[in-house]
Amino acid sequence: MVNKVKKIAVMTSGGDAPGMNAAVRAVIRTALNNDIEVKGITRGYEGLLHGEIKDMTSSHVSEVIFRGGTFLLTARSKEMMTPEGQERAGQICKSLGIDALIIIGGDGSLAGGLKLSKMGINVIGIPGTIDLDLDCSDYTIGFDTAVNTAMEAISKIKDTSSSHERCSIVEVMGRDAGDIALWCAITGGAEEVLIPESGESDVNSIINIILENRTKGKKHNLIVVAEGRGGSIEMAQEIEKITGIQTRATILGHLQRGGSPTALDRMHASVMGYKAIEAILNGEENRIVVYRDGKHITVDLEEGLNYKREYDPQMYNIIKAISI
Ligand code: F6P
Repeated sequence: MVNKVKKIAVMTSGGDAPGMNAAVRAVIRTALNNDIEVKGITRGYEGLLHGEIKDMTSSHVSEVIFRGGTFLLTARSKEMMTPEGQERAGQICKSLGIDALIIIGGDGSLAGGLKLSKMGINVIGIPGTIDLDLDCSDYTIGFDTAVNTAMEAISKIKDTSSSHERCSIVEVMGRDAGDIALWCAITGGAEEVLIPESGESDVNSIINIILENRTKGKKHNLIVVAEGRGGSIEMAQEIEKITGIQTRATILGHLQRGGSPTALDRMHASVMGYKAIEAILNGEENRIVVYRDGKHITVDLEEGLNYKREYDPQMYNIIKAISI
């Protein structure tokens, strides 16, 4: 079969995620092995709009599988959010003569890709975000590393906090999604978790849990709060004021986005990068590579972005059941 695909471009966009490098590596190596020329776009849409585009060779991606962040750099482009910016980005893609643009990023980045696809650019998305909030995929690159980093930090906070018989509030990332918080709560042995998807729990119910636990002899409590719920510092002050129990809040912040990717992230990223090129070679257009029911497949870009998963309270219920 004659390979009609001659040239592609790849970029990382939005918040960086550990494993993005592994995905770019898989994209570049699979493409080059199929005689496809690869352009690397730096700084996501910002770089695209400002001509920061260079030829990629296999050696550009040697050793990158071990590294966190993204060697292609990334940005949140304000210009790409405007119709004028999108139009210009579309024109630039056309002038590059690429057969496909591979975008590794979260929902915002892939929504930008959808705009480009409407202008005739073949866009293939790869889910890359620590938040696990691209609902069409059961996995997004970076999640496992972020959870492991946060879990390790929580274990350390627990050491000092239980030594002082304090209450700890730990705020983890997750703007609209509570997955990092739920996983951290289970793996960190939390008494309570606050996530944006559910209105369950407030300061008063947390105070009741802490006081009840004290009567049972439990001297230390851990509450995990997702960034999307926020307010951990004020919550700590309130708990201390009402209960008299010393309470400290820690916001883990960007610490969670860094670090060498775990095996799981390297694995998903490598397979997704490979699958993106496979889809292009198969003549697929405007798709997202997703992980669903244990398999890596592709789904329609627009349908994938519109897909919303329903909140399942099971994990929350498990946290409550095993915290007593
Ligand atoms: O990439 C996802 C994420 O880390 C969210 O959890 C967080 O709300 C946001 O990015 C932070 O973005 P920035 O690094 O631009 O402040």
